[in-house]
Amino acid sequence: MASSPVPELAEPAAACAERLLAADSVLLASHIDADGLTSAAIAATALERAGIPFETVFAKQLDEDEIAAIAATDHDTALFTDFGSGQLDIIADHEAAGDFTPVIADHHQPADATTEYHLNPLLYGLDGATELSGAGATYVLARALGKTKSATDGGVTADASVTDEPARDNRDLAALAVVGAVGDRQAGVDGLTGANEGIVEEGVAAGVVEAGTDITLYGKQTRPLPKLLEYATEARIPGISNDTAGAIEFLSELDLQLETDDGWRCWVDLTDEERQTLLSALIQRAVASGVPADRIDDLVGTSYQLAAEEPGTVLRDASEFSTLLNATARYERADVGLAVCLGDREEAFEQARTLLRNHRKNLSQGVDWVTNEGVTTEDNIQWFDAGDEIRATIVGIIAGMAIGESGISRNQPIIGFAEDSDEEIKVSARGNHALTAEGLDLSVVMRDAARAVDGDGGGHDVAAGATIPAGEQAAFVAVADEIVGEQLSS
Ligand code: C5P
Ligand code: C5P
Ligand code: ZN
Repeated sequence: MASSPVPELAEPAAACAERLLAADSVLLASHIDADGLTSAAIAATALERAGIPFETVFAKQLDEDEIAAIAATDHDTALFTDFGSGQLDIIADHEAAGDFTPVIADHHQPADATTEYHLNPLLYGLDGATELSGAGATYVLARALGKTKSATDGGVTADASVTDEPARDNRDLAALAVVGAVGDRQAGVDGLTGANEGIVEEGVAAGVVEAGTDITLYGKQTRPLPKLLEYATEARIPGISNDTAGAIEFLSELDLQLETDDGWRCWVDLTDEERQTLLSALIQRAVASGVPADRIDDLVGTSYQLAAEEPGTVLRDASEFSTLLNATARYERADVGLAVCLGDREEAFEQARTLLRNHRKNLSQGVDWVTNEGVTTEDNIQWFDAGDEIRATIVGIIAGMAIGESGISRNQPIIGFAEDSDEEIKVSARGNHALTAEGLDLSVVMRDAARAVDGDGGGHDVAAGATIPAGEQAAFVAVADEIVGEQLSS
């Protein structure tokens, strides 16, 4: 039998798979972001293939009410993907009451409780923030489910035949797992690392994932070249980034046919030679304008393509695909994103693209709002309160994008507040790996500062969130500032 893509998790994955196969029916609950949607799609496909009846629900945040609603359904088993570990205490209470048997595939910091079917990299010495996403954990489960299924069918599959049929052992789902990991920002410039590499390898072997070295700018598949360069705000090349006329002028001066009767070409349309010419010119320009060497190095890196998707579409590029999914799920249309993950290339895909235009507009307006208003700097953190100017479900994405913009430091974590309802405030915190290396753990900061003001939170060391009662922002900031100070000094 083929080994698990993440050997450390082979045992718990097999136990979870066995439990699912013994279920009468499963309530599949997942999170509303790119990682949560891809997790749900992987789980749904694997359950379907295994012949296990199930129903799918999504939640913005798994809290007492959400878990109670799940308990009230008549499914005997609840499969939580991309959340559940952080709420393990509440889930364990329901399990003890006989409401359901929980199976969890997650990568968030677990709460203080235990349960039998719990697949989480953090319990096995793997890093949940960088090495495995919710979709990755769910993929490991799907692989175990595929194997267990064929074993129970009596046909213990020989390795050779498995290789020919990725769908039969669920290896075709590796493509969605890569989208989930990229959506959770687990890929650095040099791509995915750690446990994620095992998933990439399986995806490549199954012919659904292509990993290659390429320009790192966002929008290779779908952005006309001037937009690709203009919006490359992370590269910040003077006279090109954030400069429509400058980007066009730069491209026009190259000895390449980049504009056709149909308009500007996209990166994906260029030959290797044309790409090389453009890239060299871009690097020369960056060097000449004094862009720091490390930022120039970051112009080239590893990117992931979905081999089965049409080139030139958002679905071809893992990063663009993940943004498309956030554009659905963060706007109460998780159903649309899930349908796209499950293969809808017509109605749902069209709807998703419309939602994507709206999402992009909101992101750029949100980042502008934060940079214009500026942040308030405390001893150890910087923060902004967007009130109702930024949608609560995207304040975290915007906080992350704002880091490094003018007036916003990379040396302190950033915390953003946005109104969730009349009574509740959504909080999102983002740091970076240099800060976590010094001891920053935002999941603890969000949980403890929120609890101090009668809210709750959690997440990962580098990115976490919370919900607190309206009006408690100042008290929250004071506690959070203090905790971060302690973390960074010890
Ligand atoms: O709930 P989940 O684990 O799926 O979400 C992780 C969140 O953390 C995502 O919104 C992702 O963009 C964010 N993140 C980040 N920077 C990192 C790592 C994760 O903003 N370096
Ligand atoms: O919502 P946001 O994008 O800021 O979330 C960042 C990370 O923190 C995600 O992984 C999310 O699941 C987690 N989170 C959490 N508990 C909350 C809010 C967010 O675990 N109350
Ligand atoms: Zn996740």
